[in-house]
Amino acid sequence: MYFIANWKMFGTIKSVNSLNKVISYSKTNKHKAKIVYCPPYTLLKSFVEKTKKTNIKIGAQDCHTQPNYGPYTGGISSKMIKDLGCKFIIIGHSETRAENNNKKINLKIKSALEEKLNIILCIGEKLVDKNKNKTKNVLKKQLLEGLKNLSNLNKVIIAYEPVWSIGTGIIPSENDLIKNIKFIKDTLKKSKNFTKSKVLYGGSVNPKNIKNLMRISNIDGFLIGGASTNEKIFIDIIRKSII
Ligand code: PGA
Repeated sequence: MYFIANWKMFGTIKSVNSLNKVISYSKTNKHKAKIVYCPPYTLLKSFVEKTKKTNIKIGAQDCHTQPNYGPYTGGISSKMIKDLGCKFIIIGHSETRAENNNKKINLKIKSALEEKLNIILCIGEKLVDKNKNKTKNVLKKQLLEGLKNLSNLNKVIIAYEPVWSIGTGIIPSENDLIKNIKFIKDTLKKSKNFTKSKVLYGGSVNPKNIKNLMRISNIDGFLIGGASTNEKIFIDIIRKSII
């Protein structure tokens, strides 16, 4: 099971100390949770150094569409992220999709794959799509356009994050989650011939709902925002996931 901490735009240089308890926990971690921290760019290097002798991996939250280097002021490429010692990257998070269409997301995935980074591709419907019964159409479009012309998907993990669940405290029903995760896995099987897909759930995961979420047998882990910035709460989620 993956437990991926998405810190979004939170954290200062002192935040590296808030990994101490998670590092000790990860050493005793009986069920071998795969813990990944995705802090902002400014903290990547210190997080990589802090977790060097541990099983915790570090990832970025986005990258530029262009590979390598170039005249793109403010840009950070997947090559630079790899150079810092990161192993993961989040691409297509709904909070970045205002500046990102599926074509740009596809370019970002290609550049990250060239660097052999593990990609967490976020997909998910908005409330208006859900209310119009368009969830499957949205998920399929985001998947197929995001992964266009890519055949080897072994390094791609999907995070299903309904936009209306992010930061709201509202999570989908057990039935909807099972159905939508199955749909994602089936689509990857049918359209991309990819049978080993891993699908995470993200959106308002917390210590209170983790036990119920763990009952959903086709979930391969969680992408956790707000609750992951407090290490006690993050550890509590991982601990309670053991059933
Ligand atoms: P949340 O965020 O856990 O704060 O809802 C999840 C995410 O945006 O990845």
